[in-house]
Amino acid sequence: MRNQIIKLIPVAAIALILASCGRDAKTPGRIYMPDMTYSNSYKAYVASDVPTPEGNLMSARYPAAKTIPYGYIPNDSAVRSNPAYLMSYMAKNHYTHSAEKWQEEFDRAGKEIKDPLAYTDDNKSEGARLYNINCTPCHGTKGDGAGQLVELPGGGDGPFTSRPPDYKTRLPLENDGNIFYVVSYGKNMMGGYGFQLSVKERWQVIHYIKSIAGINGDDNGAGATASAATDKGKKDDKKK
Ligand code: HEC
Repeated sequence: MRNQIIKLIPVAAIALILASCGRDAKTPGRIYMPDMTYSNSYKAYVASDVPTPEGNLMSARYPAAKTIPYGYIPNDSAVRSNPAYLMSYMAKNHYTHSAEKWQEEFDRAGKEIKDPLAYTDDNKSEGARLYNINCTPCHGTKGDGAGQLVELPGGGDGPFTSRPPDYKTRLPLENDGNIFYVVSYGKNMMGGYGFQLSVKERWQVIHYIKSIAGINGDDNGAGATASAATDKGKKDDKKK
């Protein structure tokens, strides 16, 4: 008896599958999850149930107020008249971001990308605020790589297995452009912050991490060759 029931299972299953198909190829047959069959989202250019404040029923709407277009460069003369600032904005178009070419692109960024921001207390303290939100979990408040994901506050190893280098030993080996490249596009186990932090915010964080690494403000780390190109921009920024 038990065997017979087991033999019937495939037959019953096939019958069920066939029965669930409707004859009309354009109807979905039996629907047991209507939300999946009939999408709740609006289709493009179909009247919407929710009118705009002006009473317009079109489903294609303007983006939310203050939406920033992809690749937008602020309409600010401190940015637009400063070649170093513009380069930071356009860097994403000039590098491949392919993992195989990481080292090559990182080296090139070290030569091409310069720090456009003036060293001011405002920039540094904003950098500190952003650092404490975005970077401390791994890098630690002192920048020594002992974040709470790396070393548990109560002692012992945290869940993040790749320990970041101490800024004090690592940053003196790098140009500003190298650091900007890593903060924007990541390195190995560290993800990039190009999407989370604006260009200005990334440079502010860099000012702060250089300060906790004991590197003096305008000192460009490994290669102090960049200052000439950025001096003009820095002065402009100070004036504001
Ligand atoms: C998820 C953990 C994590 C977070 C969050 C993180 N980092 Fe890192 N970071 C790492 C690791 C791991 C490395 C070492 C990468 C390597 O050399 O393989 C590293 C390396 C670096 C380096 C050295 C780059 C080099 O060339 O050796 C800099 C600079 C840096 N991070 C800056 C930042 C800044 C600024 C932030 C916050 C905006 C940040 N990181 C957030 C994990 C993290």
